[in-house]
Amino acid sequence: MVHTAADTLPIKEKLRQIPSLEAPLPDLDLSAMPATPHEAFALWLDSALAAGVREPHAMTLSTVDEHGWPDARVLILKNVDARGWHFAIRGESPKARQIENQPRVSLTFYWPALGRQIRLRGEAVALSAQECSEDFLGRPVGSRASAIASTQSEILDNHEALAQRLADAQAFLKAHPTHVEPGWRVYAVTPTVVEFWQGATDRNHKRWRYTASQDSTAWSTARLWP
Ligand SMILES: Cc1cc2nc3c(=O)[nH]c(=O)nc-3n(C[C@H](O)[C@H](O)[C@H](O)COP(=O)(O)O)c2cc1C
Repeated sequence: MVHTAADTLPIKEKLRQIPSLEAPLPDLDLSAMPATPHEAFALWLDSALAAGVREPHAMTLSTVDEHGWPDARVLILKNVDARGWHFAIRGESPKARQIENQPRVSLTFYWPALGRQIRLRGEAVALSAQECSEDFLGRPVGSRASAIASTQSEILDNHEALAQRLADAQAFLKAHPTHVEPGWRVYAVTPTVVEFWQGATDRNHKRWRYTASQDSTAWSTARLWP
């Protein structure tokens, strides 16, 4: 490992020296923002792909547990449609239990190369058993084996057991290639509020918020102070 002068700095100094929102960043023409957050997200995703943003489909799902404590982790976005922003998880995982107890969640995207953040707040709704099955069967065999073998987020104190359970799951899937793990869940987050944030190097950030009407049939928009 190569040590540099920065290694000897106190962490506060190191953090201070890391640049953020470095130019060049795109400007945002707020008058050209589409009527719905779904369309805006599709446009921004295309920009992220064109700009070579790594894993623009990675997002932070924030939930709260039964004691009101927040929890958050990164997930992969699987789809966006009229029902909302979709993700796939295991039904016995802590996050799934938190969602069942409190379906109000938030999703956050951050795309550093563009200085863009997208925030959604809404309710997570489980999709039909058929859609969950289709998602499971569409996953690579390694992901399916892991979903079968792992008791996700529980303490793993037996390393051999992990290798053995994975091997067993691989063998099981070879014999039963159409097996669908019963606990597999796909959720859609139906947003009530979505904010698009365009960072600027001079800190004159532009923020555009969509708020759903009471009956969720229309969107109102507003510019927010930076
Ligand atoms: C880039 C990235 C993508 C991930 N995608 C998923 C995913 O799509 N589904 C999932 O259950 N966990 C995914 N994870 C793992 C979760 O962040 C988390 O560690 C795991 O789901 C356990 O969360 P929980 O203990 O809150 O239930 C991903 C992690 C990273 C860093």
